[in-house]
Amino acid sequence: MNVKRLASVVLVLGCVSAFAKAPEASAPVAKAPDRDVYITIGTDALEHVNAALAGAGLVAPTLAGQKGEVTALRVRESQLNTISRMMHEKAHRCGGFIAHESEEAALAALGGGDSVKGMTSLAVTYTTDNPTVANGLANAVQETNIRSTITQLSTAYATRYHTSTTAATAANWVKTQWQTYAGSRSDVTVALQTHTGTVMPSVVMTITGTAQPSEIVVLGAHMDSTSSPTSNAPGADDDASGVATLTEVIRVMMLQGYRPAKTVKFMAYAAEEVGLVGSKEIANAHKAAAANVIGVMQLDMTNYQGSSWDVVLMTDYTNAAQNTFITGLMTTYLPTLTKTTSSCGYACSDHASWTNAGYAASIPFEALMSQYNPYIHTVNDTLARSAGMATHALKFAKVASVYVAELAKGTLTVSDTTPPTVALTAPTAGATLTGTATLSANASDASGISKVEFLVDGAVAGTATASPYSYAWNSSSTANGSHSIAAKAYDAFGNTTTSSAVTVTVSNTTSGAGYDSALKAPRCFSVSASCDSGTLLNGRGGMGPEVNMPNTINSSCADGLSGSYHVDESNDRLKVSTLDGTSFAAGKTVKIDATVYVYSTTADKLDLYYTANAASPTWTFITTITPPGTGIRTLSANYTLPTGTVQAVRAVFRYNGSVASCVSGSYNDHDDLIFAVQ
Ligand code: BES
Ligand code: ZN
Repeated sequence: MNVKRLASVVLVLGCVSAFAKAPEASAPVAKAPDRDVYITIGTDALEHVNAALAGAGLVAPTLAGQKGEVTALRVRESQLNTISRMMHEKAHRCGGFIAHESEEAALAALGGGDSVKGMTSLAVTYTTDNPTVANGLANAVQETNIRSTITQLSTAYATRYHTSTTAATAANWVKTQWQTYAGSRSDVTVALQTHTGTVMPSVVMTITGTAQPSEIVVLGAHMDSTSSPTSNAPGADDDASGVATLTEVIRVMMLQGYRPAKTVKFMAYAAEEVGLVGSKEIANAHKAAAANVIGVMQLDMTNYQGSSWDVVLMTDYTNAAQNTFITGLMTTYLPTLTKTTSSCGYACSDHASWTNAGYAASIPFEALMSQYNPYIHTVNDTLARSAGMATHALKFAKVASVYVAELAKGTLTVSDTTPPTVALTAPTAGATLTGTATLSANASDASGISKVEFLVDGAVAGTATASPYSYAWNSSSTANGSHSIAAKAYDAFGNTTTSSAVTVTVSNTTSGAGYDSALKAPRCFSVSASCDSGTLLNGRGGMGPEVNMPNTINSSCADGLSGSYHVDESNDRLKVSTLDGTSFAAGKTVKIDATVYVYSTTADKLDLYYTANAASPTWTFITTITPPGTGIRTLSANYTLPTGTVQAVRAVFRYNGSVASCVSGSYNDHDDLIFAVQ
């Protein structure tokens, strides 16, 4: 082992490192003009090192490895004085680092040998302070463009299997597409990268940083596809989706004249499916060149929403600190996206090539590992399996946008202040709307329309992202009467125009329930799109009072009789309505709105049930809802109507106890609502 202490540094400070875990050697390191040296420091001092070097206008150190309290860094020898001064002044630590002759020696000093695998963070200070670029890019990416790239890659080439000629053709198509977006920008290059392990080339776009070009941010996806047993491999999700997602981010960056401070490289890798071949060569070449890659994002499978989550961050073969950074970026910029973590369990994609080369990589993924697209690696990995849309991938284009904006920073240099034109084409003024009504608009803009929102009484009722812009609006979600409808168009630069509004009349047949003295609960006798108990269920037992209590079919479940009205629990109203505004029928999704008086947000629970046959109910559990606050609250859940002409729902509003269709308790209220179904 060749571990050496940099004697001069120790002498300057006149004291001994607290982190001297490595065996010490006495020979001083020979002076050289300026070269890379390796140091180990206390992990807690990492921030100070970064700040001191940044403050002195010096390049950031590169993480070589990390194990718990000790971090190994590669720095320039000329930076050692700055670091030692800072260690002394800021970290109040004597000789707070050890210099090592080689990377191996520094890693060995961590005490674990091959310590890159234990790496948990990079010498990167993650900040979130570039909202203009983050929002500018994220708001401009469009589903339609991602969709058309996926369509191209998955249908124009029978296979993108790495040895096929069509794989190379597809790579050339991507190269040309990226080149077209780059136009004549002299700071952008697009090139094919050849490999030794495959005949297929990768495609690399480099946008050279304006301020810290040696720091590199990599975004990748893989170009190749595979299929078994047939040779047709559309690979729409795996991984045309990733390439298409990146392609849309590139389009918007070029449109808006994004100039990153650090260098950004987009990569469409060759031969991932046969062992991460392209990415391994590229990542190892960066490592061999000691390239300062500060972060890597891999997009492999972005367009199949197999789980309820929007974005799933894989925790294995990725960097925990960068994952935390990305999670934070989503919270800040994309608060509507839900996110969670999962793990591949193996080196499942190209991020692992970068992780293995010692760089911080992440992979935001389409679903939980247990729920990923089951059609990958087959002839059925087509866009049709994602409903022919790129809606899920669009979220990942936004995630990649905010990641680049905040890790590579920089500015947008092109702006367009001309707002779009927009006109509402349907409905027309004075129209009467019932059930589902189509809202349509025409919109145009020189830099493209990113979305059109349909506003009902000024609030967003629905959004369309592709022309022709239209939205199927359920008019029964609003009260009968006069309403104003308008369309608001957004261009790729965030300029907006709202059309003039039209006034329409909404007229839906809602049905008020009447008390059915035979079944002993409120009932809507004729089929409609909604059934509302009105005031029939207000209160509980003698409190309120709840007329006709207990209002459970055939008095099958009694209410608790303790407490007082609107101090203690009561289930006051039940309403069932179809989501699409049309009449109740088997297979339709309906929404239950239960209005309750909440006493406690911890002890009170609402259990909802339905039955296909109100005359002889078998209660099927729908869900339990915990009220979000006390007092009068309306809690909602959806379910699908079964077959049956007289159906019912039951609400069990209970204080403590557990889920059951009848829970005895002094404060519990049980109510049923019966309604006719086609
Ligand atoms: N996109 C997959 C990886 C994947 C599949 C991630 C399912 C998460 C869920 C990738 O293209 C792939 O197929 N990778 C190979 C491994 C590689 C080293 C050959 C695999 O999973 O078999
Ligand atoms: Zn694959």
